[in-house]
Amino acid sequence: MFVLGLQGSPRAKGNTTTLLSAFLDEVRKRGGRVVTLDATKMKVLPCLGCGTCERKGYCPQDDDMQAAYPLLRKADLTVLATPIYFYGATAQMKAFIDRSQALWSRKYALDLEDPGRKWRKGFLLAVGATKGKNLFDGTILTARYFFDAVGAGFEGTLGYRHLDKAGDILKHPTALAEAGEKAGELAAPLLKRKKVLFACRENACRSQMAAAFTRQLAGDRFEVESAGSAPTREINPVMEEVMAEKGVDMAYLKPCAISELPDDWRPDAVVSMGCEVACPTFPGADTEDWDLPDPSKESMDFMRNVRDQVEKRVEDFILK
Ligand SMILES: Cc1cc2nc3c(=O)[nH]c(=O)nc-3n(C[C@H](O)[C@H](O)[C@H](O)COP(=O)(O)O)c2cc1C
Repeated sequence: MFVLGLQGSPRAKGNTTTLLSAFLDEVRKRGGRVVTLDATKMKVLPCLGCGTCERKGYCPQDDDMQAAYPLLRKADLTVLATPIYFYGATAQMKAFIDRSQALWSRKYALDLEDPGRKWRKGFLLAVGATKGKNLFDGTILTARYFFDAVGAGFEGTLGYRHLDKAGDILKHPTALAEAGEKAGELAAPLLKRKKVLFACRENACRSQMAAAFTRQLAGDRFEVESAGSAPTREINPVMEEVMAEKGVDMAYLKPCAISELPDDWRPDAVVSMGCEVACPTFPGADTEDWDLPDPSKESMDFMRNVRDQVEKRVEDFILK
């Protein structure tokens, strides 16, 4: 399970970072993988409203968001954490949120479905100084649309009032325990999923398609990785195109070496796409080979045919 924390307070050791840490520490304790992006330390340019993403599906601004998009796509759970500034998120977090428009465009302008969309979860953590009834309303509304743009179901908010000085949250009677409890509650079903590795040589076509279909059809039951014994630099553009014909969005995916998988990630099942792959042995994992032809240097029709075979194999696989 992979959890992405988004930190929005510019204050070192502020209430937001402490609250987010309580949440993420619980995820780690339970065996989840965690990455935190600190929006206040990243170079994130404001959205220019240029419309490139709506036409082409990507943002042309060259900054740290380009590394954030793949993480937003990979996350099983995204936690947005921000102090309240003028009844909204901080400016740094708002810039990050606005730039998620590139992902919004892929879905709503280009009609492409992120394979993880149906199962990904989103959660909001917020803190503010005052006690106002409506203190979190604006930020909750923004978070709702942010999570929709990044393809995550909005699971709710923990918002804490009357916290002003850095460290005030440490005196709060329940906040840190509640953040830990919520993390455990959200992580539990994700951690129970069966771990599957789809492997091929280049991790550019077949294993990427298998992973995407499995994620899309049964991401609630399977935690999926794909990797290759000799990965290429980029995924195959023809594969990306034939998957787009089926509405499946393969953006932001990169080939990965089997040796680059996290050390502590132990698959329950390893599925190789063709017997040319020298898979390392994963003790205790079920193994099977789908014996699919390598489409990497073949025609588009050949790629379509392999795509359909992969889809069918995945449909059978998830029923087992
Ligand atoms: C520019 C600015 C705007 C703020 N606006 C609000 C506000 O609208 N409502 C509120 O309750 N607190 C407001 N605060 C207070 C912070 O939300 C509060 O100090 C919070 O605990 C800071 O969290 P942190 O320690 O994680 O940075 C504001 C603080 C700053 C610096």
